[in-house]
Amino acid sequence: MTYHLLSIHQFEIKEIFEIFNSIPIIKKHISVPISRLACSNKIIVNAFFEPSTRTSLSFASAMYRLGGNVITFNKEYSSINKGETFPDTIRTISSFGDILILRHPERGIMMKAIENSQIPIINAGDGDGEHPSQAILDLYTIYHKFGYEFQTKTILFVGDIKNSRTIHSLLELLHMFPSMKIYFLPFHNKFPTNIMINKVKQVHNQSDNLIFTFSNVKFDLFDIVYCTRNQTERESSWVMTDSIKHEKPDFIINNYFVNKLNDDCILLHPLPRNQELNDDVDSNHRSYFFKQMELGVEVRMAILEFVMNKNNKSLLDL
Ligand code: NCD
Repeated sequence: MTYHLLSIHQFEIKEIFEIFNSIPIIKKHISVPISRLACSNKIIVNAFFEPSTRTSLSFASAMYRLGGNVITFNKEYSSINKGETFPDTIRTISSFGDILILRHPERGIMMKAIENSQIPIINAGDGDGEHPSQAILDLYTIYHKFGYEFQTKTILFVGDIKNSRTIHSLLELLHMFPSMKIYFLPFHNKFPTNIMINKVKQVHNQSDNLIFTFSNVKFDLFDIVYCTRNQTERESSWVMTDSIKHEKPDFIINNYFVNKLNDDCILLHPLPRNQELNDDVDSNHRSYFFKQMELGVEVRMAILEFVMNKNNKSLLDL
């Protein structure tokens, strides 16, 4: 049966560490000519039905770094505009490559996609559902900073907790490490659901209030602050207008806020940012979100190889 990477729920802890431990090894392939031979006949199909910069290009870069090739489906110029259905599109594009990297605005669409795909699919974001490769990257960034000690750290999620698929996936991943502590500083009306709160309380054995407001944040509690933008496109009547682009978030994370955090606390953001993350923090030593973005290539090299291995193939061996 084909192994698709659709959700964090599929993972066991040992597989997460298998991916982390493979990264230094797989990175060596970047400059080894043999790797070019190893997967020079392998192709990933990048199919993004929603905007993307980092996820699509880091998967593409990862595949090129491994010596493979990338083809890109472009929705605007595709036969969707001639009335082609989603199943037919997936059937078609999946016959042109070895792994399909798929992003789509509809939560849960991956199940429909796998029914029509001839090759493994990696979920690169399904609406407000999941974004598993980003969660692995986020946790790897935390591990990169703290080593195995990360398992006892405390994280504050900031912003649109309700709609952020990166938070939804990362939360599931953090539930595998019950000694971590989790808190939230949500935007107005973007609170975690009761199900999310109860799961944190139960798994992480937290009995105190998990939700902070901007005026009562306990700055010295956190080792990691994970910020997200307002996911305005998830609102049903969404149309991108200039007023939305310039819409002020409920509060702004700037140097005034960040300088109150512990000295070795790190600030993460999956990006893109809007106004919630002020660029005056860019040179703050706690800012780790550009590092997080850069690590995306090596993490996705490892994820591509992990998915191939699960399907009894490899991008590394001839
Ligand atoms: C995120 C996404 O697409 O969910 N971006 C990303 O993949 N790095 C976060 C976002 O769009 O806010």
